[in-house]
Amino acid sequence: MQQLYLGSDHAGYGLKNNLKDYIETLGYTVVDLGVFSEATYDYPDIAREVAEKVYENLGSFGVLICGTGTGMCIVANKHVGIRGASCSTEELAHYARAHNNANVLCLGQRIIDEEKAKKILAVFLKTPFEGGRHQARVDKIEVSAKN
Ligand code: RB5
Repeated sequence: MQQLYLGSDHAGYGLKNNLKDYIETLGYTVVDLGVFSEATYDYPDIAREVAEKVYENLGSFGVLICGTGTGMCIVANKHVGIRGASCSTEELAHYARAHNNANVLCLGQRIIDEEKAKKILAVFLKTPFEGGRHQARVDKIEVSAKN
């Protein structure tokens, strides 16, 4: 089964725990990298851990949850090979996969409820990258990351 690396800070802890089993029903092996309590935790630290795992395991996905999804996404996108998308609707999740080949989904526990998060996750994980003209554009992301 495909690996999915899951991480949150304290502000995304509850939603992370509630999504874990659901993600497994979608056919993924979930590796929960934390956090494991509601104690304050800096989002850049867990975002970096998840980003590194996704980079090391070609074809895997990451899901990062904080209060808004914004901080996690900023950090994830600092990593070469990571294309993070902060999504609050199914439509954003669809295009993040279909056009951007996003490999890390960022969610905000203060922005969406559990049911919405499940719908977004399902779309994100089931939508294939369209390739074609989008492949050339995605390739340019890595070029700009190195320069
Ligand atoms: C924590 O309060 C909050 O700032 C963090 O979870 C996240 O929303 C940052 O982008």
